[in-house]
Amino acid sequence: MQSQSREWNSSVYHRLSGPQVSWGKKVLSRLRLRGDEVVLDAGCGTGRLTAELLEVLPAGHVIGVDISQNMLQSAREHLLAQFGSRVSLGLVAADLLDLPFRHAFDGIVSTAAFHWVLDHDRLFLGLRQALIPGGWIEAQCGGGPNLVSLRTRADGLAATAGFARFFAGFHEPWLYQDAKGAAGTLLRAGFVDVETSIEPAPTVLGDAQEYSEFVRNIILRRHLEQLPTEDLREEFMRNLTAQAAMDQPPFSLDYWRLNLRGRVPDIE
Ligand SMILES: C[S@@+](CC[C@H](N)C(=O)[O-])C[C@H]1O[C@@H](n2cnc3c(N)ncnc32)[C@H](O)[C@@H]1O
Repeated sequence: MQSQSREWNSSVYHRLSGPQVSWGKKVLSRLRLRGDEVVLDAGCGTGRLTAELLEVLPAGHVIGVDISQNMLQSAREHLLAQFGSRVSLGLVAADLLDLPFRHAFDGIVSTAAFHWVLDHDRLFLGLRQALIPGGWIEAQCGGGPNLVSLRTRADGLAATAGFARFFAGFHEPWLYQDAKGAAGTLLRAGFVDVETSIEPAPTVLGDAQEYSEFVRNIILRRHLEQLPTEDLREEFMRNLTAQAAMDQPPFSLDYWRLNLRGRVPDIE
């Protein structure tokens, strides 16, 4: 059995991450910045939102952190082309569960990343320790009943005779907290003025090809890694795509987002 990989197909993610970018822009629109802050983009991916952050911090500094070398390489290419050497010092390969920062940031932004980290107590403790007193976090990730409909179909298919042996011992790679659970996690980590909420973000993809590429590379990449041949991976995706074609509207994804906000006390 293959081990679960940290890597993504970053060029596909960069091309197809329109939904994530539009949700992320809404998160960034909530920031009230002076323009000179030092901000961490936690789980920056290919840097499409890191670029937006850099635009609103003309006198500040942004550090993008990600665990995937492919994602960071894409981010490096795109951000260097757009912003020059300002960005090259700001991209760091690290696990969000083991951040190499203490009291370093005025703020932390994160979009579409935290649900990939299964230990939220450790995650938010490390994030709080990376902030200066008075520092803030403004973030969003998957939460609540995120993608229940697709996940139910994937689980059902994985349990059928042709696939079950490849999924023995497999667990979903995400943690989808609800608003109350997430607030508790932030408070336990030492954040104050905590606000959390869940919102629906239904998303409809254009056609069968886009749906299949998106689901395979962005949502179910860890599921597909369980399958040892391309024929099996194609069969798995063909089945899910055929089911999605029958939905109303076709090729829809039942996304839900968890918004998270908090602040470190001024004096720790
Ligand atoms: C769906 S992408 C989101 C990227 C970007 N923030 C966006 O909104 O487009 C999730 C990112 O989180 C990163 N990630 C997941 N787990 C991580 C961890 N433990 N440490 C650091 N990065 C992680 C992944 O490598 C990936 O680049």
